[in-house]
Formats: sequence, structure tokens, C-alpha cells
Amino acid sequence: DGNTDLVLPDNAFSRPLAFPEKIRATDFELAAETARRKLAGDAASDVYTLNGSLPSPTIRVKRGESLAIDYQNRIDQESIIHWHGLIVPPDMDGHPKDAVQPSQTYNYRFDIDQRAGTYWYHPHPDKLTGPQVYRGLGGLFIIEDEEEQALNLPSGDYELPLIVQEKRFSDSGEMTYSLNRMARMMGFFGNTLLVNGMQAPYHEVSNRFYRLRLLNGSNARILDFSFSDNSSFYVIGSDGGLHDRPCEISSITLTPGERADLLVDFSSYSVGQEIRMTAEARNGMGGMMDGMMVGGGMMNDENNNEEGMMGDGMGSRNSGGAFLEFRVTNEEQDPFRLPQALTELSFPNEADTDRTRRIDLTMEMMQGPAINGKFFEMLRTDQKVQQGALEIWEFNNGTMMPHPMHLHATQFKMLDRSGGPLAPHERGWKDTVRIDSGETVRVLTKFDAEKGLYVFHCHNLEHEDNGMMANFEIV
Ligand code: C2O
Ligand code: CU
Repeated sequence: DGNTDLVLPDNAFSRPLAFPEKIRATDFELAAETARRKLAGDAASDVYTLNGSLPSPTIRVKRGESLAIDYQNRIDQESIIHWHGLIVPPDMDGHPKDAVQPSQTYNYRFDIDQRAGTYWYHPHPDKLTGPQVYRGLGGLFIIEDEEEQALNLPSGDYELPLIVQEKRFSDSGEMTYSLNRMARMMGFFGNTLLVNGMQAPYHEVSNRFYRLRLLNGSNARILDFSFSDNSSFYVIGSDGGLHDRPCEISSITLTPGERADLLVDFSSYSVGQEIRMTAEARNGMGGMMDGMMVGGGMMNDENNNEEGMMGDGMGSRNSGGAFLEFRVTNEEQDPFRLPQALTELSFPNEADTDRTRRIDLTMEMMQGPAINGKFFEMLRTDQKVQQGALEIWEFNNGTMMPHPMHLHATQFKMLDRSGGPLAPHERGWKDTVRIDSGETVRVLTKFDAEKGLYVFHCHNLEHEDNGMMANFEIV
């Protein structure tokens, strides 16, 4: 059954949501190890843990702190950690050339000097990022600052880190990952959504405001998030921290790598009620076929059967479903009032742009998607950028599929997308941006990081591993 909804177990929504370990320190070790864990069903799966935690621990730091993190690679292949969304020196950024071999350690030393926000970290070795993230390496990296603290947003038990990831499980419940030509072309899709490494858990809440720090940590799947009763919620921040004001929405699209900072008000529910969080698949073979058949109206169940078309390991759902249930179990006075304003967004002025750079997302015959017709080469400088320059990067997607493009070493402002207006969460600071098929998206970005070599790439991890990545050098 290729064209199925999310696989839900018989015991769906019967286990409480777990949270990754927490690290609140400035000097610590992160040890990646192989392990066997039960994730869905009865079978154990091969996973990678970090300090024993799966997903990886949530790291929480304050702006101004200096960090010393020793990454111990005790897995079976080379690895390196990238701090997604952080602006750190080039040798601290997890460039694939810095990957360390099994049993070696990489010492990270850098200062935190950027806005409070929901960032994350994950492995970044050349051609191996997909399998390492898939097996469980990757966690949230939360930066706090005084400005955000002054807003008294829901915190502690009222602040929920949610890492949502699509995985594929066999009938026996073993997590599988295999690459065939279609997976290299489209990305690896699954049949199950995990949240914090769990299938369909529940979480008990009070009838008050909660802050959800939501990460789409899937390898390839773009997800439209909403609630089962279509109730609205507020987006207050995106990749690079808080927005200027809360914006009420009822669904949000996140590509792999994108984050959203949300406020959900459960006060209109009474004790005993439940509400589920849902995610619909936005890309995949189904969408791709729709795209190719525009005007044709030829789709039917037969030629939309991905399992048959793509073979083992590539079958994927085209719709979605609930992955987390909130149960309102407590009556509570809520001291929190939704603020009118959150912060001031001081974006650079488009009129001060030094140059516009055109980046073409291309499809290379039989080889997959590439950047300006080229595949990644470790030390080839593809773009040279003047330090301090303000640039417009114009992404043109000439392929039949969407690509989430991510720039290291910077946060940018989205200027526009040719396919329609920007979504509310696209109006804040961003580091990862969805470029739909046929679209042109322009972003404005200032290169203030230290001189050196960084990468930008598609955050569909199979595309990245297949070489949809390029170097830019700040000179
Ligand atoms: Cu989250 Cu270069 O990646
Ligand atoms: Cu891509």
C-alpha cells in the first residue's frame, strides 16, 4: 500500500511523550555511540545515541557564554557536528572536511553572540549526513537572552521541545534506511512520524498557554502542521529567533531543518478534552507526479502506487495524520498574557545591497539535483563573498521538486517568493528556506562571519549527501 496515511500502532496515544536529556552547561562532552533501541513495535533498531540520549540532548545556553564542547565520535563511520543556525568560526562550523574518524574527538570552542532562538545541531560528514541524522543524531540548541527572558514566555513544564521526524519501519517494527536511485533523486521518505523519537505519544497539559519549539528533523519530508480541530495558534519565532509580534495562524509548513516557535492557548478547552497535532506530507512522489501531470488529469490509484514504482524502501505516504495528542488534565490560572510586541527586527536595508548572486537549482540527467549544474567538491570554492558584504541570493528552482536551501554562517531575511506571498513564519530571521518547483526566492543576507570556507546546501539530506551542496568562501 504505497499511498497510505501515517502508520499508527494499535496502542497509539497510550504512552506519555518523552523529552531528550537536557544540557545546561558551557563545558561538556557529547559522545556519539551505536545502540539498539525499540522505537516502534517490538523489534529493536540500530540507532546512534548522543550521551545515551535519543534524540540527542537539548542544549541550552545564554548569549555571551563561551562554549567548550568535545565531540567524541564513537560510531562506526566518520562524523562531525554542525551547529545549524549558529554563526561560528569556519573550523567550528562542522564543515565536512573537518570530519573525524571513529574513536577520535573534535574540540569545539566558540562564543555565543546572536539572538535568542531555537537552533539545532546535527552531524555533517560528506555523503553520510542523511544516515547519521536518520539514526538519531541531532538535537535542539536553544539560545536565551535577556530581551527574551523579559517577555516571560511560558517556560519550564510549559515549554515543549518537539522534534518531528519521518522514519520508515518494517512490519516487525525495525527502522530501515536504504538508498536506491529514486531515494537519491527524491529523498528518503518514511511511513511513520516520530516525535522526540516516539510514535504517537500523548502529553498532559493544563488549560493555559504553552510554548512549542518545533523542529522538522525529517530527512526529506516537508510537513504541514496543524491541529485536529483546526484551532489556531500563534507563531512567535522562526529559525533565527523571535518575530516582531505574534501572528495567529492555523497551519504551518516546515521543511527539513526549519524551526518554528509557537504559542498554543489551551484555555478554551476544558479538563477531559483532547486535541491532536497533525502533519500532512507536502512533498513526495505523489506531489511530484501531480506536478508532472499538470493539466493531464491522469492520476489514478494505479500509477500513483509508489511502492510498485519505486521498489523496496521507497514507498511513502502522501497524506498524513496525527502524531501527538494533548490531553487537558489540569485546571490552572495562567499568568501569561499574549504580548502585542515581542522584539524589534532590525533587518538590513535592501537598498544597501552590494550585489545580487543567482543560484540555480538544477537537475542533472541521471545524477540528481545539483547547484549551478555542479555537485559538491570538498575544497572547491564555488562562491566568493566579501566579508561584511550585503547580498541578495536569488534561488531559481528549475527542478520538478521543492528544495529547502540552507546557508551556514548567516541568518537572512526572505524578500519574496515568485510563487506567492511569504508565510507569517517566513517574515522573521531565517537560515533555511523552501524553494518550490519553478520558483524564484530572494533572500537578503549579510556576511559578517569570520573569513573562511563554509557550505550552503539543500537540507533534503539525501540531496545533500548526493552532492547538492557547495562551498562559499568569505574573503
Ligand atoms: Cu542543518 Cu548544513 O545543515
Ligand atoms: Cu533538494
